[in-house]
Amino acid sequence: MAKNVVVVGMAWGDEGKGKIVDLLAEQVAAVVRFQGGHNAGHTIVVENEKLVLHLIPSGILHEHVQCYLGNGVVISPQALLSEIKRLEEHGINARARLCISHACPLILSSHVALDKAREAASGTEKIGTTGRGIGPAYEDKMARRSIRIGDLYQWETAKERILNLLGYHNFLLEQYYQVDPVDADLELEVISQFAVDIKPLVKDISAALQWHRERDDNILFEGAQGAMLDIDQGTFPYVTSSSTSAAGACVGTGFGPRYIDHVVGVTKAYSTRVGEGTFPTELHDDVGKQLAERGAEFGATTGRPRRCGWLDAVALKRAAQMSSISSLCLTKLDVLDALESVRICTDYELPNGQPFRGDFGERGLREIKPIYTEMEGWLESTADCASSDDLPVEAINFVHCVEDLLNVPVSIVSTGAQRESTIMRDDTLFS
Ligand code: IMP
Repeated sequence: MAKNVVVVGMAWGDEGKGKIVDLLAEQVAAVVRFQGGHNAGHTIVVENEKLVLHLIPSGILHEHVQCYLGNGVVISPQALLSEIKRLEEHGINARARLCISHACPLILSSHVALDKAREAASGTEKIGTTGRGIGPAYEDKMARRSIRIGDLYQWETAKERILNLLGYHNFLLEQYYQVDPVDADLELEVISQFAVDIKPLVKDISAALQWHRERDDNILFEGAQGAMLDIDQGTFPYVTSSSTSAAGACVGTGFGPRYIDHVVGVTKAYSTRVGEGTFPTELHDDVGKQLAERGAEFGATTGRPRRCGWLDAVALKRAAQMSSISSLCLTKLDVLDALESVRICTDYELPNGQPFRGDFGERGLREIKPIYTEMEGWLESTADCASSDDLPVEAINFVHCVEDLLNVPVSIVSTGAQRESTIMRDDTLFS
């Protein structure tokens, strides 16, 4: 029996989903992105070569895998074309194995300009976005103003709608934010060329996934960002503008929720966050610095240093529940190797001793104090370890502690960037 598996991040993104999707892709016929855009950054190491993918599913590196961008993904024409080109330069014929939903909304240059202008005008209230136009593009989708890829094939109508939208955006840019407008003629040229370039890849993705289902193919749904960046359930307003939880896999592709068989939640063995917003377990000391250095914690998309802290089992438990996580993947365990003791946040406490009431929004989190359990570190290298038998007992205790706190089994432990640096504790995800 084929399996449909969703992989989602459980925290603030950058959990190492790209490596896991790449690894699991060996066993599937199709990999599908369902939300976000080129704000995501998946670093994959293949034969010692680093590749960063932002938009195209990590499965593209496997010749037998068909890749899809579902309707929930917002598409920057420039970013998509340049990523296809970069893959082609690496000898990967992305066009032969990539399809894009006709219902994907476009990210226009004016969305990028609005994102940047809004952030600049927000001062200390800024979100710390990736500056890729993601928020404004989703705003236009919800306001039913978006230009969707399929619209481009009735060019005269599309042209008029693009000009109208650019007129509205330019009004905001010039009159409200007092910055330069975008060049409408140039934008039309870029989009009309994009429409021609991309036409063979545009498809009904909901129908394509149904086709795979009828053939009994394994399908992998690749989440971007993480649960705490979810527009509804995350640390609002310091979130991204899409549904990052497993439910997003259905609405963002047109695949029915009952067809999902397994959800893998990916978390690092510690926490990181890029951008602004409260981060309950953030460390400002030498341990935080050590995690950042050993974990090479710099954003794959913007190069910004990531904030680091202890694993937060309260936030992860919420993520596990709201995505109905079937099993966990714990990444970067080796980053903790040099620590004498390791902490996990097990509870949040309010200043007056009241219990946390479950508000993960910025206002709810700002006042909480994290409560920790402390465990002995292992002070031994687990880097590139590929078998549970080779893990020090303290590291195994750590894995068990995470399983107990979240009440979910850990199916995969990752101990390095390479495909081989992985402990598969459960090999039956697709069987
Ligand atoms: P936006 O998605 O560019 O609007 O950014 C909103 C928030 O999400 C910011 O805090 C970003 O740093 C964060 N964010 C967006 N994409 C990623 C990602 O792929 N990894 C980590 N953080 C992200």
